[in-house]
Amino acid sequence: MAKIVQNSDKSLFECAMELRAGKLVSFPTETVYGLGASLWNEEAVLNIFRAKERPITDPLIVHVGNILECEKLISLNKFQRNCFNILTKEFWPGPLTLVLTASKIVPKSVMANGTYVGIRIPAHEIAQKFLRICSVPVAAPSANKFGHVSPTSEKHVFDDLKNVDDLFIIEKNENCKIGIESTVLKIQEDGKIKLLRPGSICISQIEKLLQENEVSYILEEQKKYVSRETFKKETIHLEENTKMFHVKHFEHDKNVSRETFLVGDESPGQNLTHYSPWIETHLLINDQKNISSEFPIQSLQKISLRELERATILDFGKKFAHLKQDVLHYADLSETGNYTEAAHNLFHMLRESEKIQNANAIFLTQFSPNSEIGIALFDRIYRSASGKFVFL
Ligand code: TXA
Ligand code: MG
Repeated sequence: MAKIVQNSDKSLFECAMELRAGKLVSFPTETVYGLGASLWNEEAVLNIFRAKERPITDPLIVHVGNILECEKLISLNKFQRNCFNILTKEFWPGPLTLVLTASKIVPKSVMANGTYVGIRIPAHEIAQKFLRICSVPVAAPSANKFGHVSPTSEKHVFDDLKNVDDLFIIEKNENCKIGIESTVLKIQEDGKIKLLRPGSICISQIEKLLQENEVSYILEEQKKYVSRETFKKETIHLEENTKMFHVKHFEHDKNVSRETFLVGDESPGQNLTHYSPWIETHLLINDQKNISSEFPIQSLQKISLRELERATILDFGKKFAHLKQDVLHYADLSETGNYTEAAHNLFHMLRESEKIQNANAIFLTQFSPNSEIGIALFDRIYRSASGKFVFL
């Protein structure tokens, strides 16, 4: 059974010792809660995949307390070194994960058997203190069941992972400040950079900085939302490539559907269904013309007012406030339509909504984001609903 422990110097020290001894510790960051294990304990790292029921083809971010610790884990060419120095000076500690060529000492289990490792230094005070005491790199994905809504409080972690033995969850008593996960940026040896996941640090900020420093690079577009059909086709070659790895490590994965596997070694996080509540979730629209081609319609259905009776509306900017009386529960991610406020609220409001007694559906509000932080937010909203739209 998992255990929530208070945030005191004594318990942070005890948790760090447990982690070093091979146990799992969930800790808060400025983005979401992480589920950590010592990078040097392979069995503990595999326990993360078991606890989350996550396919081992989805690599883990390594969290470090300082740059020196990071240096041991990477092996960079001139281009990568230049980008690394510029970006870390500006954005670390903070919500930016850099995916870089790994040094020989990084275990394959955190890299989906590839050659690149994702690393970040979190900015949150508790995370920093904890990593300092651990003084080992900590592999940590978000501390939710695979595919479920990411956790922004100790209670969310407990709800998903209470049955995990030897798991310690560090208390925080308030929701994580940013509320959505870090921006993930891959810096390749061949001079290309790729945005693997949007977050609160925007690609325009990154590009501006690189350009100011006269770095020449190619920004490569990432294929975004992979439908189940494409996904199945494209996973075949990946499975061939990872077969040997499977044989060694995949016993616990028998129950994970093939459809949840990722496409290629550099395309994690492409699953259309992600951040998804345990109950039916859709995007509510009032004007089909408003849908941006960046977020394609996976299905479109008309619903009746009666179908709202047992539903929650999670609104944005009071767009559907007139339906308040028609639903079981109504809340607004941000009444003023502020993207940062909505990002902070999204995951905990989704988790509240799925717990409402007798509720059988969540309707999120469709909107056309007009900034990059808006895109990072809508990316999560869209995936929560698996791109399924409804209208009244
Ligand atoms: O804000 C965050 O990033 C949180 C906190 C706990 O730090 N962590 C987090 O981890 O969101 P996770 O595992 O839920 O998402 C990490 C994503 C992976 O799905 C993958 O897309 C990418 O980061 N990633 C990690 N390592 C990678 C690698 N070696 N190559 C490519 N992508 C990688
Ligand atoms: Mg996650």
